[in-house]
Amino acid sequence: MKRNQTKHSKHVIFISYLCIRPGSRLVFSLSSWKKCVPGRNMSNEVKQSRISLDKQNLELVWADTHLSRFNVKWLRFFCRCKKCVPEFKGLYLVDIPAFPEEMNLLEVDVGEKGTNLSIQISGEIYPDHVIKHPAKWLRERCNCDACLHDVINARDVISRYGISAGVREMPKMTHSELGDDEGVFKWAKTIMEVGFCLIKQVPLENGIVVEIAKKLSPLLETTYGKYIDIRLSGGKHGSNNKGALPLHMDQPSYESCPGVLLLHCLKFDKTVSGGNSRITDAFYAAEILRKESPGDFKTLTEVPASFDIVNYNITHPCHMEHQKCHIVLDYFGKIVGVTWNPDQFAPVRLRQSDVDRYFKAHRKFSEILNRPENQITFRLEAGDVMVVNNRRCVHGREKIVADCGSRHMQTCFLDLDDVKSKYMYLGHKLSKNLTPPKVGNTCSF
Ligand SMILES: [Fe+2]
Ligand SMILES: [Zn+2]
Ligand SMILES: [Zn+2]
Repeated sequence: MKRNQTKHSKHVIFISYLCIRPGSRLVFSLSSWKKCVPGRNMSNEVKQSRISLDKQNLELVWADTHLSRFNVKWLRFFCRCKKCVPEFKGLYLVDIPAFPEEMNLLEVDVGEKGTNLSIQISGEIYPDHVIKHPAKWLRERCNCDACLHDVINARDVISRYGISAGVREMPKMTHSELGDDEGVFKWAKTIMEVGFCLIKQVPLENGIVVEIAKKLSPLLETTYGKYIDIRLSGGKHGSNNKGALPLHMDQPSYESCPGVLLLHCLKFDKTVSGGNSRITDAFYAAEILRKESPGDFKTLTEVPASFDIVNYNITHPCHMEHQKCHIVLDYFGKIVGVTWNPDQFAPVRLRQSDVDRYFKAHRKFSEILNRPENQITFRLEAGDVMVVNNRRCVHGREKIVADCGSRHMQTCFLDLDDVKSKYMYLGHKLSKNLTPPKVGNTCSF
């Protein structure tokens, strides 16, 4: 659409600001556009609006004096009008590549009481299209530094709960609590926030761990099938030996490790000594590494480790390998992913110049992960199910000493995104007003 391009050509770009609100005057200075901490008493009413001199940004002052800026392309491509918002995800209604590279804001009307914006631009390709945005929707998506900081912090439950917050014993629930939505929600919330828990008094039935897991999400079947039997000897899984298992995440050779693991203790005779479980939060350890040894921290975000597993004698014979950094940062510099498993560690494929600094950083991170003060150690009892966010926490087992007696565990997995999704859905169903949590799936959001 070119109808307004002449009117708003380069010749008029020197005209001060275009303050569009009917009845409002063009007299305010940048200094009057204050920043404020969003969240508290956040206003959804636009008090003043203007188009930046280069016509690339719409600047809004809210009734609480907060200032937001929205880019012209962002406003157009995320338009909320009925023509642009699909009824179902998957319907692509705004053909972004079809728009020209150059687009300019032309006119803005913030509507009755500053709550509904209508925006005209140059470069529009759909006939008679006017961009529509509810002011409330825009305010919730203000991407100024303060608002981004706020939303990321609100989601960062990892730094506010669990090991980071001083938790040093396993939160406990009973199996009977999982009989309704409230109970399953409480369970999901504990996994989201703390990262681990114990379910007590679970019946000693073969495969029941799968039925419990399915209360949270569809089962994630792995190379070992629906679940893995772990006994003192004879199985095809590494945990069947009696040696100590170092702190690790399960199945790191997948591009994304299984998200939540459940370990059901069916039998653990008193005659079997040792075999205590250990658990800690790898995100917390990574933050300590960042503080104590920034160079090593940087190395683990730049130099990748290798993981592999080749086993042709299991339920689904497998040959897997994956190279990834132990620590993943997001766009904002936040830790969003950690992978750690000394058991499935494979020969690293690195430039010679990186090998030494890699092992130096690896040793330091391992030392922090293994600090006793950051760990929880406990002995599983028959009827316990240990539940762990396998992408956030590492678990291990002390050496087992057994001349007689037996120990029998069964373990299965869920996908972390599925569990988070169930948590959000149950929260919605039970009117909990949730903020989606950061969970360790390489994303702050
Ligand atoms: Fe494990
Ligand atoms: Zn639209
Ligand atoms: Zn803001």
